[in-house]
Amino acid sequence: MDHLLRQNNPLRVPKPTPLAYDVHDLNGKFLVKQGELFSTRLLQKMSRMAPPPNKKIRMRDHAVFGKDLLQAINKIPFHPLFSQNFSSSPFEKVLHEAGLPYWGIQALEYFKKMDPDTYWHSLRVFVLTAFMSLQFIKQQKRKLLVASMGPLHDIGKFSVPLKVLQKKTLLSLEERNHIRYHVFSGAVLLSYYQGTENPFGAKVALEHHERLDGSGYPFGILLSDPMVELIALCDVYDALISPRPYRNRAYDLRSGLEVLTEMAMDGTFSLDLVRFLIALHRQEKTDYKKLALSKEIRGLPPEKNYYGQMLS
Ligand SMILES: [Fe+2]
Ligand SMILES: [Fe+2]
Repeated sequence: MDHLLRQNNPLRVPKPTPLAYDVHDLNGKFLVKQGELFSTRLLQKMSRMAPPPNKKIRMRDHAVFGKDLLQAINKIPFHPLFSQNFSSSPFEKVLHEAGLPYWGIQALEYFKKMDPDTYWHSLRVFVLTAFMSLQFIKQQKRKLLVASMGPLHDIGKFSVPLKVLQKKTLLSLEERNHIRYHVFSGAVLLSYYQGTENPFGAKVALEHHERLDGSGYPFGILLSDPMVELIALCDVYDALISPRPYRNRAYDLRSGLEVLTEMAMDGTFSLDLVRFLIALHRQEKTDYKKLALSKEIRGLPPEKNYYGQMLS
């Protein structure tokens, strides 16, 4: 899939927007005031305030996350996908070498304690992104870059109140906007923490809910960075097949893949990425490039799902 090898574009905020809430760093230090314009200039300012970079800790070497990663890999639905692949050295290598700085560890610790759904989601997105990067990204440095953003793509949820993140009933418009705010606060936080060292992080935080066809948020741009798209697809896949507060149960694997198939056929995600995921689930080895997609529905989607619905 050649387009994944294209140079990724730098982060640009297409439409400067006033921030709806304050942003604090992970220690509660005030960073940006509500009402300040979220713009390329603000992110550059944050980058200049970045604390000195600290040594990265390998996820697999971390006593808690290393163990949790193995648990995520060995649990259904990931177990059948990765059990035969895990011992393959390139996958191990990416998982092993992708590192998190101290503040990244701090963010994961927060989620593990306060919002376990986001914690386990972040680990699974890491695993899946690392795996897919082997297929779709050529340079080792870029594979590591993309994989290492898997656990941090939702770091902006640190700025969203837990009672909103974990609400089990219909959201008000304001609550929905507060959840969506995590893309802005995430870009601020990652610009601040990563500085100019890794501008890709802020881009992932800001654009991982944008889509190829412009149907995403916050700006509805045509997502053009294939490395961000890879994380975005792993994000949606995991969100479908994992428990979420806003529906009675997760999608089963088949219906989750059917949702992604429909999205790919409608131009929301690249066909090849979705074909690859589907082929990964097949017991017989199939060349994903030859996989024919169909919109036929055979899985069992959850009966109650408030996603995208709001209190009127
Ligand atoms: Fe997100
Ligand atoms: Fe996510």
